[in-house]
Amino acid sequence: MTDLNTLEAEVLAQVAAAGDLQALDAVRVAAVGKTGSISGLLKTLGAMSPDERKERGAAINALRDRVQSAITEKKAALEAAELDARLSRETLDLTLPGPYRRKGSVHPTMQVMDEMVSIFADMGFAVAEGPDIEDDFHNFTALNFPEKHPAREMHDTFFFEPKETGERMLLRTHTSPVQVRTMVSQKPPIRIIAPGRTYRCDSDATHTPMFHQVEGLVIDKGIHMGHLKWTLETFIARFFETDAVTTQFRPHHFPFTEPSAEMDVQCDRSGGEIKIGQGTSWLEILGCGMVHPNVLRACGIDPDEYQGFAFGMGVDRLGMLKYGMPDLRDMFASDSRWLAHYGFSGFAAPNAASGLS
Ligand code: DAH
Repeated sequence: MTDLNTLEAEVLAQVAAAGDLQALDAVRVAAVGKTGSISGLLKTLGAMSPDERKERGAAINALRDRVQSAITEKKAALEAAELDARLSRETLDLTLPGPYRRKGSVHPTMQVMDEMVSIFADMGFAVAEGPDIEDDFHNFTALNFPEKHPAREMHDTFFFEPKETGERMLLRTHTSPVQVRTMVSQKPPIRIIAPGRTYRCDSDATHTPMFHQVEGLVIDKGIHMGHLKWTLETFIARFFETDAVTTQFRPHHFPFTEPSAEMDVQCDRSGGEIKIGQGTSWLEILGCGMVHPNVLRACGIDPDEYQGFAFGMGVDRLGMLKYGMPDLRDMFASDSRWLAHYGFSGFAAPNAASGLS
């Protein structure tokens, strides 16, 4: 009669020696498979007396259970080892292109800014820049904001914690401080635009806490409102790529210009969308004016010798108008579906020769 202890020792040794899942399966079939050695033992029970069968049957079943659990354990160990081996064998290069590649695109705000720069560059303007974190002097004082002007208050301006000196830095609320920085560092004639980020504590369908402006500044002898009007009307016609744009200048107030105006473009608001160059409505798109003598003086320029004009416009808002985006907040939501829909090709940089958009 087969010695169960010997058989068990043999089978367990084979289980332990199995080097891979295939070898282990062969051991399993040979031991507990239909025609395996242990299954074969069970078949001999029929020829035994009931007492013998009871005792021997229990022993064989227990043997089979032990062998089976040894196989299960070994299988788990082999699988884990195989996974470890695969993980160390297969490295994943995240820089390789994946099966699905969304093509990158130029954000509409950047596209619109490039369009504006290209139009003004063509008119002889240089691009100037200034810091996003400004001081009170450049953002307000030098721009002739009275001491208690409401725009200095917390509800509009993001202030930083005061320094030890009590001075509070702030996130610039407009690109106009670049006018100041340019005038104190350059001699006239000056002809610059300053595209950049601006910040105000405001958020709804047409306001976001961070938005973009383009500032313009021209300083020279004999500059007057006629120059301002021609420059802005020419810009608008080129930007909207049509001569059919009608504009109007409305008197307004800005501390840093005198006289000041807002420029509106004629548009049609019927039918839920805004169409430029037709209709009976007006849409405000920028602020402008003749640079205030106090601002020239604050920047070391003699207002009796030099005059200038300035303007400031919202880039994102002009982009919404030109490309038909209904909600300003979508611009900064980083939704890749929105970017895929409204984005522009990186290879089609706007320029006066081949067109803007
Ligand atoms: N800084 C103004 C604003 O953010 C816009 C502006 C108006 C800029 C008139 C100018 C200007 O340079 O002359 O609302």
